[in-house]
Amino acid sequence: MKPVKVGLLGLGTVGTGVVRIVVGNQEHLSSQVGSPIIIERIAVKNSEKARDIDVDASKITTDPWEVIRDPEIDVIVEVMGGINGTKEYILEALDRGKHIITANKDLMALYGSEILAKAQEKQCDVFYEASVAGGIPIIRTLIEGFSSDRITKIMGIVNGTTNYILTKMSQEGATYSDALREAQDLGYAESDPTSDVEGLDAARKMTILGTLGFRTNVELQDVTVQGISGVSKEDIAFAKRLGYEMKLLGIAECKDEEFNISVQPTMIRSGHPIASVNGVFNAVYVYGEAVGETMFYGAGAGAMPTATSIVADLVAVIKNLKLGVNGLKQIVPYKTKKIKSDEDIYYKNFLLLHVDDKAGVLAKITQVFAEYDVSLDSVVQQANPNNPNAEIIIVTHNASKASMDKVLRHFEDLNVIRRVKSHYRVEG
Ligand code: HSE
Repeated sequence: MKPVKVGLLGLGTVGTGVVRIVVGNQEHLSSQVGSPIIIERIAVKNSEKARDIDVDASKITTDPWEVIRDPEIDVIVEVMGGINGTKEYILEALDRGKHIITANKDLMALYGSEILAKAQEKQCDVFYEASVAGGIPIIRTLIEGFSSDRITKIMGIVNGTTNYILTKMSQEGATYSDALREAQDLGYAESDPTSDVEGLDAARKMTILGTLGFRTNVELQDVTVQGISGVSKEDIAFAKRLGYEMKLLGIAECKDEEFNISVQPTMIRSGHPIASVNGVFNAVYVYGEAVGETMFYGAGAGAMPTATSIVADLVAVIKNLKLGVNGLKQIVPYKTKKIKSDEDIYYKNFLLLHVDDKAGVLAKITQVFAEYDVSLDSVVQQANPNNPNAEIIIVTHNASKASMDKVLRHFEDLNVIRRVKSHYRVEG
């Protein structure tokens, strides 16, 4: 059988993992697709770099265009990252009829619709399983596993770095900055951790999941984003006392054809399966109208888990090649985009208020909630020897985001409130 030839853009940790799996599992892979799979050419940044795999030097180039323009190559695997430049390589490869596999969530979140439209025009596959939650096959699950159902909610822990930090804070009482430093020392967080800790990485992944789950063209700017840099160990202690864990959750909901997506630190009821996802692990909880609750758990990053998803995509592309059906199974969003207004987004809220400790304060505060029709689930006042103000902890029932925003604006003018110390979404 004629071998299928693959061009690899990037030979970092993930690219190395791809080579290992393609070479090491060759018999297993070729038995599934009916032909050998050969990594024909590899574009690298630095051809002199020492590597811990054996690669024939004649396959290596520092010019990605040599790989893209090689007429022998059927499939391009892109693991070099980056947005501008990388997008041009991918569009040109599609123009040349090559199929694409990418792990690039940044590119797919920002330019996925353009790339998928080009792929459809050229009858090529573009698969990107590794772009969200590394080794968890969540994209294939949303496209194929749930093709018969209507998904109404996706909740994801899709950033391992922030989950590691919050786990350290929760389990060991670490401060945010100590936990971040440890995540950096272990190589989970970058020296500039902004994209992870401020929620942008998770927002990009939720853009991809929302598009697939709701079959509509979700864009990054449709996702409201708040990171974890403002979460204190006191907040986490309060969460635990009330029976919650603090997680950076991506939450995508769709009802009556309207959706909303957010990424924010969220207090999730300790008994919920996603609350026990700790360390760098990822999990995606999917609720379908017919199937009900499901959850998918595993490694969200790392060379071999990510490479597993990439090579599984490769198997899928080659099977399609054999059947002559490339480009036919792309999910092209077909629903008109309708974003929920703040009046229609409902959730519970946790508030920690620092207030004057004198008669009538609580009455004034509860009056504001009543004015905007926000019903309260629990109210606790506690003494804190380190705080001259009284601390009031409030958990609301489900309230619209619009009403809660009005409450918070009103609090700015309420002179008995010294400070709204913390405000979090509550789930479960
Ligand atoms: N920085 C990401 C995380 C890994 O911490 O989950 C790859 O997306």
